[in-house]
Amino acid sequence: MGVLETRSLTKRYGTGAVAALDDLTVDVGTGVTGLVGANGAGKSTLIKILLGLLPPTSGEARVLDHDIRTEGEAIRTVVGYMPEHDCLPPDMRAIDFVVHMGQVSGLPAAAARERAADVLRHVGLAEERYRLMGGYSTGMKQRAKLAQALVHDPRLVMLDEPTNGLDPAARDDMLALVRRIGHDFGIPVLVTSHLLGELERISDHVVVLDSGRLLRSEATSAFLGDTGVVLVEVLGDPDADGTDAQTRMGQALAARGVTCRPRGGLIEVDPPDVRPEGAAAARDALRDLVRDTAADLGVGLVRVQPQTGRLEDVFRDGGAR
Ligand SMILES: Nc1ncnc2c1ncn2[C@@H]1O[C@H](COP(=O)(O)OP(=O)(O)OP(=O)(O)O)[C@@H](O)[C@H]1O
Ligand SMILES: [Mg+2]
Repeated sequence: MGVLETRSLTKRYGTGAVAALDDLTVDVGTGVTGLVGANGAGKSTLIKILLGLLPPTSGEARVLDHDIRTEGEAIRTVVGYMPEHDCLPPDMRAIDFVVHMGQVSGLPAAAARERAADVLRHVGLAEERYRLMGGYSTGMKQRAKLAQALVHDPRLVMLDEPTNGLDPAARDDMLALVRRIGHDFGIPVLVTSHLLGELERISDHVVVLDSGRLLRSEATSAFLGDTGVVLVEVLGDPDADGTDAQTRMGQALAARGVTCRPRGGLIEVDPPDVRPEGAAAARDALRDLVRDTAADLGVGLVRVQPQTGRLEDVFRDGGAR
């Protein structure tokens, strides 16, 4: 099911020559979608446009089948939004604030109180909910922001950098909460981060923005999938000339037509040319060649393992698709 879609969405602020969003066409479905990009990539701009809070310069978008240009209010009724920046009134208790936000979203007073207590407990602010939020730590503020995004039982949540400012333990907790919203409660989630590595753990799908443009939109498994590159580690004594085992292995592989290079203490072997029998057969043949080469040289083969691409590689490779 489509949750939201954009078509050639473009946003220029003021008379800005540079577009914050540039001809962005992307579809987002159910589950957890990670929206990834460096600072200034356009993540917050996209979210504000999707909520109908900011008009696009050109292009179209629909959220839960509502037009962002004309149905912003309807969108905000059914979408939970956790903004990037601190938006919490310091002189309010979390419980009162979340109840208030529930009522603003249309819940009757009694239901708002009940839901507020539930969501605050759910995000881990059980006792603290009676304290003024001005005295909250960053981690507690992020939890309170998440609670207000959930209080009205949204059909979609948009979380803008929910892990910002959190220490590693608090970040893990927050990511677990986000994952639970998407997977256990079945609420589609659009979550942003500039930290690629953290989203790969919780996202079903990843959308990568680069300077307002779509760099990639793919299932997370495709990002993490086998790149075809194989890492080889060998162990052995240097030869009479003092050439170490790794170098000898690299040279021998190159002599047999394999493209490879040293990488730390390993040898990085490029994927083989695809054979008519298919990629898997080509890989098996490459592994056999590596094994035979090591045997011929008399070096020990410690490991031959596929290198799995990580999200960090997306930018390093610069690979627009
Ligand atoms: N209100 C504004 N007026 C003018 N330019 C803006 C405004 N808001 C954002 N921009 C510009 O638009 C671009 C995208 O900004 P945006 O805040 O959407 O990026 P982001 O991906 O959310 O970044 P961050 O990771 O820092 O939160 C940036 O170049 C930014 O300077
Ligand atoms: Mg932002």
